[in-house]
Amino acid sequence: MFFSISRSWSSSSSSAASVETALAEKAQKEKSDSDGGERKDNGVVVSSYWGVSRPKVTREDGTVWPWNCFMPWETYRADLSIDLGKHHVPKTFLDKVAYRTVKLLRIPTDIFFRRRYGCRAMMLETVAAVPGMVGGMLLHLRSLRKFQHSGGWIKALLEEAENERMHLMTMVELVKPKWYERFLVLTVQGVFFNAFFALYLLSPKLAHRIVGYLEEEAIHSYTEFLKEIDSGRIENVPAPAIAIDYWRLPKDATLKDVVTVIRADEAHHRDVNHFASDIHFQGKELRDAAAPIGYH
Ligand SMILES: [Fe+2]
Ligand SMILES: [Fe+2]
Repeated sequence: MFFSISRSWSSSSSSAASVETALAEKAQKEKSDSDGGERKDNGVVVSSYWGVSRPKVTREDGTVWPWNCFMPWETYRADLSIDLGKHHVPKTFLDKVAYRTVKLLRIPTDIFFRRRYGCRAMMLETVAAVPGMVGGMLLHLRSLRKFQHSGGWIKALLEEAENERMHLMTMVELVKPKWYERFLVLTVQGVFFNAFFALYLLSPKLAHRIVGYLEEEAIHSYTEFLKEIDSGRIENVPAPAIAIDYWRLPKDATLKDVVTVIRADEAHHRDVNHFASDIHFQGKELRDAAAPIGYH
């Protein structure tokens, strides 16, 4: 497996990485030369005029890395020891607003999806990947405006958004969205992005608390998903290839393994967002507490 090498690649300055890159560039140049200045992959002809090409990336076993959307050093093993039952008890007024809002949002979701957990997961991941991007973007702009570091929070929130998007890229391998579901996603995204953007500007502590509770609900949904798999009502199909590489799962991994690691990710997001909200509740800014980066 490629994983021991991939972790050393996580340090861009590592000599292993530079050697690998140099070798890959050499191989690429030789291939370009033999191709008469053009690289042909999957039938697509890419001009090398600009000299911009991705170094050849391989797994440790020498097989070609098949993904453009994430690299070996972005893969990880989910922390399955994380406490799935942790719950932030709502105490303050804003906590209760956040908790009630999420419980209210769950009602139409339950009515619409019922027990179609694959479809439910796919659709909800289209929403789940929004808050991290909005929060990360707003902290990025704040950092620029105030000439201040973010304490790692920009990266942490963007990592969350990317991780949620990978949940979606995985689920979509298993469930194909119908036309009216695509339309629903379009509508919901239009509303949710703008609503969350406004909320994050007005009250980041409420925004993070809501996300914390949404993640608690996501853990519940994925637990129900696992029960359906265990009962045989949902077939425990082989894991999609993208999931095996992203979460470093064994080659014979199944849907159950995938849902288990996704649920662990949601528990991590729950903790990060409740933590972020707690920092605000203490009257501090996120940058005052180091962000929990590097999980993914
Ligand atoms: Fe997710
Ligand atoms: Fe999540």
